[in-house]
Amino acid sequence: MVKSPGLFGFIKALWRIARGRPQVPPSQRDNPLLNALLRRRSVRSFANRPLPDDVFAAILEAGRTAPSTVNLQSWSFATFTADSWRALFEHPIPFKAPRAVMILADAHRDRLALGTDVLPRSPLIEYTLAVMNASLAAMAMNVAAEALGVSSVMLSETGRAGLLDMAYLAQKLRLPPGVFPLTTIVLGYTAGAYPPMPPRLPLQTVSFDGAQGYREPAPGIMCDWLEQMIAGYKVSHLSSSFEAQLRIYQNKIGQAEADLHRMIFGETET
Ligand SMILES: Cc1cc2nc3c(=O)[nH]c(=O)nc-3n(C[C@H](O)[C@H](O)[C@H](O)COP(=O)(O)O)c2cc1C
Repeated sequence: MVKSPGLFGFIKALWRIARGRPQVPPSQRDNPLLNALLRRRSVRSFANRPLPDDVFAAILEAGRTAPSTVNLQSWSFATFTADSWRALFEHPIPFKAPRAVMILADAHRDRLALGTDVLPRSPLIEYTLAVMNASLAAMAMNVAAEALGVSSVMLSETGRAGLLDMAYLAQKLRLPPGVFPLTTIVLGYTAGAYPPMPPRLPLQTVSFDGAQGYREPAPGIMCDWLEQMIAGYKVSHLSSSFEAQLRIYQNKIGQAEADLHRMIFGETET
């Protein structure tokens, strides 16, 4: 059960979000790639300015050359202009971005070369392996975009652009079995200043000394994070809420899970 903070908690949470910054040791602060990585924010408002073909091509190249398990490159990229997106989905690219690339986990292409003996239909192949590889390609494109002065946001729910609507997307894109939409990166030039960084958990919470074993989060830390998420969401999405966003996932996840199972094994889980 998600509990909203009171007024004082709400203000305190916003104050903490406003003060949140990446923590980089002073000796490492001048690295341009690191700075692009840390500067990146999800941008949801784009200027009415086209993205040149060569810039888009450079971003895709960062995805094509991403690392992958046994160099399987188990991904596909569906690319769109504003016009081609509108023609297929009958609405603009979310947030009126000029370009989009949908990232798909793709175990189909590797099976053509290696066969199903080597790559059986299994959650480990379709999901752990293909999803991991395709996600790395997505992140490479995301960071490359930022380095080239292009802003972006990855979408898995907004505009039916990702894994919660995979059956719909599979039909739209005529996907063979073994190919699953994960997320769509919409790209363009930001219409304004970047939003503040959504609250990140402290490094001590998300890391632990391997020799010591897993460490449970300190008491209260997850509650603090939740309060910041609720407050930050309220301010940045005036007509929605973090709770409403979670409900969308809750409502769609059962159907998405059944669709996924059918797409992998050709039947619906009972
Ligand atoms: C796989 C993935 C799917 C996402 N889906 C959505 C989405 O559907 N709609 C949206 O507005 N943001 C989406 N986001 C953006 C996240 O909300 C965002 O990354 C997160 O709040 C952290 O903010 P930051 O990217 O500015 O650091 C998604 C991000 C990822 C990595």
